[in-house]
Amino acid sequence: MIETGKSWRTDGDDITLVFVAAGRDEIDLAYLGPRLPDGEDLSALVRAGTFGLHENEPDAPRIGGLLPQAHDGYRGRPAYQIRSGKRQADCGFQLAHIQANGPNMMATWVEKSTGLQVDMSWEIVGPRTVEVTMELMVDDEGDILLDSASSLSMPLPRRFNHMTAFSGRWAREMQAKTTRIGPQAIEMRSANGKPGFDAGNWLVFHGDDGQNNDADCLGIHASSCGDHMTHVVQDQDGRTCLSIEALRQPGGIALNASDITNLGQITLILGDNQDHLTQLFHDHVRTNVLPQRTDWGPRKVHLNSWEALAFDLDEAKLKTLASAAADLGIERFVLDDGWFKGRRGDDAGLGDWQVDEAIFPDGLTPLIDHVHGLDMDFGLWVEPEMVSPDSDLYRAHPDWCLHDDRADRPTERNQLVLDLSREDAFAYIHDALTALLDNHDIAYLKWDHNRRLFPDNGLQQFAIQRLLGKLRQQYPAVEIESCSSGGGRVSFSMLQYCHRIWPSDNNDPIERLRIMESWTRFLPFEILGNHVGPSPNPITGRRTDMDFRAKVALFGHMGVETNPAAMSEDERAILRAHIALYKQWRDVLHGGAFRQLRHPESSIYGQMVLSGQRALAVVAQTAFAENFNVAPVRLPGLDADTLYSVTLPKPWPQKSSAYLADPDAWESGFVLSGRALAERGLALPLTYPETAWLIAIEEQKS
Ligand code: DGJ
Repeated sequence: MIETGKSWRTDGDDITLVFVAAGRDEIDLAYLGPRLPDGEDLSALVRAGTFGLHENEPDAPRIGGLLPQAHDGYRGRPAYQIRSGKRQADCGFQLAHIQANGPNMMATWVEKSTGLQVDMSWEIVGPRTVEVTMELMVDDEGDILLDSASSLSMPLPRRFNHMTAFSGRWAREMQAKTTRIGPQAIEMRSANGKPGFDAGNWLVFHGDDGQNNDADCLGIHASSCGDHMTHVVQDQDGRTCLSIEALRQPGGIALNASDITNLGQITLILGDNQDHLTQLFHDHVRTNVLPQRTDWGPRKVHLNSWEALAFDLDEAKLKTLASAAADLGIERFVLDDGWFKGRRGDDAGLGDWQVDEAIFPDGLTPLIDHVHGLDMDFGLWVEPEMVSPDSDLYRAHPDWCLHDDRADRPTERNQLVLDLSREDAFAYIHDALTALLDNHDIAYLKWDHNRRLFPDNGLQQFAIQRLLGKLRQQYPAVEIESCSSGGGRVSFSMLQYCHRIWPSDNNDPIERLRIMESWTRFLPFEILGNHVGPSPNPITGRRTDMDFRAKVALFGHMGVETNPAAMSEDERAILRAHIALYKQWRDVLHGGAFRQLRHPESSIYGQMVLSGQRALAVVAQTAFAENFNVAPVRLPGLDADTLYSVTLPKPWPQKSSAYLADPDAWESGFVLSGRALAERGLALPLTYPETAWLIAIEEQKS
């Protein structure tokens, strides 16, 4: 039995975690913060952070800690709910072992009535970055069902009394909502077989309303690509417990002897402020998550056929589209949905991954050759996890989809889900994709997933990772995008196989600015697809200038998703110029340090990326400003004493450029210090809605 008050310390270069034995079998988190001095007296730290007893509580209060258990008066949410046979099991977890070694703390609990073992690890994996993993095992062939199991339970440090979570819906994903944490429990859950658009897997905890950038904050990501359930519950003593569970199928998970069940990883990152947190997330993603990030070449400009042609495909039209794309400077042509057998709309064909001869009488090769002849590479849309009831695959294997024998097979977007935990279905899809990749020169797959999983057997997420892992090994040069209706399946467990996400189907630049602002809090620009869509936008109906659409799309992995033939010569010239600017600046945008630019006018969005001696910013006005002249745009983060040349790269927004005081100087460049740029800022005409400016900042050569 471990003595109450005993503590363990885990250090990284710039972070310390202190764990303490809080009561029988309870381990609490006594400190999570910047690195403590080596000589810190841990016993004093623990005691000075412990409250005395008050009226109306057990004499030995249970605090839950890292593995809350519903006993001895603990009223919070238990980490595990287990059934053995038909009975709710006791859940008497006993702490068997704990050790802290350098950057790692490991603890093991064993549940006495079932023999269930929980191994927990908290590991510092990078600057201010901690990964938490939980694994479960049973020794005996028992009859154990896990009703719920937590991937993370932790007391929230009391200084974090606000939470920003990101909920949304299709085409309006990642809406940041900040809540003061109080006695009302918060529950956020996804029930899609994928993280979907529900909140709970990307969180930021902070000590204010989230509008400022001057206090430390804790970012948390649940990496599972399946479902999650997140609870934030404050008890009467003001202690808040955060728990994240990886949700499985209803009815519980049966545990088999000697299987190790990994409950998914949770990443915790501690920032000095929101911008610092963002930078740490970007660094972590670049260093530890993305596949071989250091080997990536420049991120090619895409032309995607979806909002250009939708299902109206034929070889001649696609070749014309490709030629028009190349003329704009596009580098990759992506053939979206509609190319395979029987796919004339969204009601047929999924599963039949053979090229449709009616569209491509000689196969895909003539189109691919045409694309290559234009010096672009070729990408292809697939949705491998799905099957249309109207498909040869379904007619041949109606049982290969997720279904319940006793019920109907309800569809979503007219489709069902292939059960990839079946070896035969898995082999079929693997072979189909292998045939496509072996027989065609394909540089990129846009991997879509447009249906929730119902019924869900809880196994699909593991099968999909297995499939992606196999393909990545076989075709390491092929890039993969995780699409899922735009933003529906974004998680570190997907990103370890993917090179890009599709953040939203919504290409309307006004919507996009907000969506990108949320995603960039966690993910860097090089993996966030950002496309120039048509005007009017097919989803919102809003009309916007090409200049505005192009400036917004430049901040991301740029693409075009509209038909150049439908543009005026002027629009094509504006788009071409922005594509050239993107190429000129992508090394900065895709490798630099990100800054969110804050402006007193809430309708003004700004983002900047700094790399070495160069920085590029975009500032966009979405509404009609209150004053004729809005406050100057301040650019923090540059070196205060360095002199920079500051220009507004052309083309300029037409109407607003008439209001520049000294256009020649803006073109040739003002020379200003980093301090002047951060403190006073730039007077830019941002009165009109749908106006954006690019600001180029380059160190002045002496
Ligand atoms: C949903 C995606 O998000 C779109 O970009 C497009 O690929 C369609 N599916 C095609 O069906």
